[in-house]
Amino acid sequence: MTDISMATALTAEAEQSINNAPTNYTELVQWVREIAELTQPDRIVWADGSQEEYDRLAGELVDAGTFVRLSDHEFPNSYAAFSDPDDVARVEERTFICSQTAEGAGPTNNWRDPAEMKQTMTKLYRGCMRGRTMYVIPFVMGSLDAKDPKYGVEITDSAYVVCSMRIMATIGTDVLEKMSKTNAFFVKALHSVGAPLAEGQEDVPWPCNLEKYIVQFPETREIWSFGSGYGGNALLGKKCYALRIASALAHDEGWMAEHMLVLKVTNPAGKSRYVSAAFPSACGKTNFAMMEPAIDGWKAEMIGDDIAWIRFDENNKARVVNPEAGLFGVAPGTGWPTNPNAMRAIAEGNTIFTNVALTDDGSVWWEGKTDEVPEHLIDWQGNDWTPESGRPAAHPNSRFCTPISQVDMLAEEYYAPEGVPLDAIIFGGRRKTTVPLVSEAKSWEHGVFQGVTLSSETTAAAKGAVGVVRRDPMAMLPFIGYNAGDYFQHWLDLGQKYGAENMPKIYYVNWFRRTADGGFAWPGFGENSRVVKWIFDRLEGTAEGEETFVGTVPGKDDLDVSGLEISDEELKAALNVSAGEWAQELPGIDQWLATFGDKLPPALKDQRDILARSIQQ
Ligand code: GTP
Ligand code: MN
Ligand code: MN
Repeated sequence: MTDISMATALTAEAEQSINNAPTNYTELVQWVREIAELTQPDRIVWADGSQEEYDRLAGELVDAGTFVRLSDHEFPNSYAAFSDPDDVARVEERTFICSQTAEGAGPTNNWRDPAEMKQTMTKLYRGCMRGRTMYVIPFVMGSLDAKDPKYGVEITDSAYVVCSMRIMATIGTDVLEKMSKTNAFFVKALHSVGAPLAEGQEDVPWPCNLEKYIVQFPETREIWSFGSGYGGNALLGKKCYALRIASALAHDEGWMAEHMLVLKVTNPAGKSRYVSAAFPSACGKTNFAMMEPAIDGWKAEMIGDDIAWIRFDENNKARVVNPEAGLFGVAPGTGWPTNPNAMRAIAEGNTIFTNVALTDDGSVWWEGKTDEVPEHLIDWQGNDWTPESGRPAAHPNSRFCTPISQVDMLAEEYYAPEGVPLDAIIFGGRRKTTVPLVSEAKSWEHGVFQGVTLSSETTAAAKGAVGVVRRDPMAMLPFIGYNAGDYFQHWLDLGQKYGAENMPKIYYVNWFRRTADGGFAWPGFGENSRVVKWIFDRLEGTAEGEETFVGTVPGKDDLDVSGLEISDEELKAALNVSAGEWAQELPGIDQWLATFGDKLPPALKDQRDILARSIQQ
């Protein structure tokens, strides 16, 4: 039997949905037909993005056992979902950049020949939506009123994905109409949980497939995802589009798509600055973006918590937007004690929780939500849980998915299609040693070097061992959609093109340094505003610091620690720049840089040599 003969007839209902498509954008309708013929759904729904549609789908998910509707007393109009225990995080070993050549994907990505991959996945997709509904979700990342709106259409067989996409992006009728009117380019994003239902077969609450593929085709700007229903694997506007595909787009079009939060900071005199920060997954972006400054008179407002698109305006100034419409935040560690801004946003309701624990009064709990620990819970795997159980009640990578409009400290400028001017880029990771609390890079090239060699101890946000130091360039290791050497060169090229004076200043922070007895040297969270104040005042030219071989570091009198309970020893440990520690760091850096071979930009090799020489002095 040929491929074609296997993939013809649609159900009458599906055929009708295509014939009555709410658009006459031929390329889109034809693509939907092609995918329907391949995947054989029972029916097709064009998502309109309305509240009614969301409520209807959520109701269906409750009936299917995927969602538990929470009691309205704490989180109104909210739901908890529980995933398959094998489908709880991004799967990096199953993520591929299928560029035309292996070199196009570079040494940091898994690569397969695109034609081969399409053949493999076409087999998997064949009939994979049998017994299910296929949803077509038109979406835009960033503002629909942007000069050049970045459109996508996700086809999925998961109603959980439709509901989550409605929170995370602008979706539905308005997008479809504007896109169709101009026959605008859109990213084709195909997703299936990979769990067809035979006639009469009962569904499970979280359908998925043991075989998973998260695939980006950077040249053709396509995304094919199979087998997972979780977060970054399934909500294709987020990591797959706004980072992997967008980074390739940005390379070609002269801008940047980065794994960064965006924060507006206003000093007591009323002057505002905008900073972005790149920290690897589960290293504090959402918490930093929603910080409550611990120092009087300073104000922080959020613009974004995960992804930043940076473009350059007609005056050569960097401007940044957050392309997302929601938060998909790590629940554990986000709580009333540490992050009341996030908690208030969540408490507005309209939230989808995934893999948190259920309380006896119909609400949810996770580690760190409150200081007080409930006496009894149903854990994320559906088992009874008490504080004596000796295991977490919520999965360490459990998440809340909440509309960004509910953040009461959201800066108004979030809604501006042209974004805000970007004054500083902050890199940071989770390191017990070596990396000081904060340093200011000596130059754009030095800052890029620090970004390229950014390191962090691994977390639960991706499958694999936790606590191992790995290099995570610009916090983009899992998200660079092309050769990382070219990506580094792109950063350097932009510095050349626009001039150092127009580029944001670069800083490097580490909230996670430990003292000799193993405790955190720095209290973190709202107290990080003290570091932000130093950065702000450096931009103003009013803060002092000490020149070290990793850049300018505040002396202990340069940092405002008024009212902070921190011992001299802790502060010293937090700020320490040790030649000995950096000498131990160097072989790891060398090994890392060597992975890029002759793709390593010479300017970075120079920065490495400068570091090596200064450590020896
Ligand atoms: P992704 O959304 O996966 O990209 O991660 P993220 O960078 O947004 O991480 P998030 O802000 O959700 O933080 C994850 C974990 O880091 C939580 O468990 C927090 O408690 C912890 N954390 C965040 N900020 C700080 C800090 O300043 N100090 C310490 N010690 N822990 C922090
Ligand atoms: Mn992230
Ligand atoms: Mn986050």
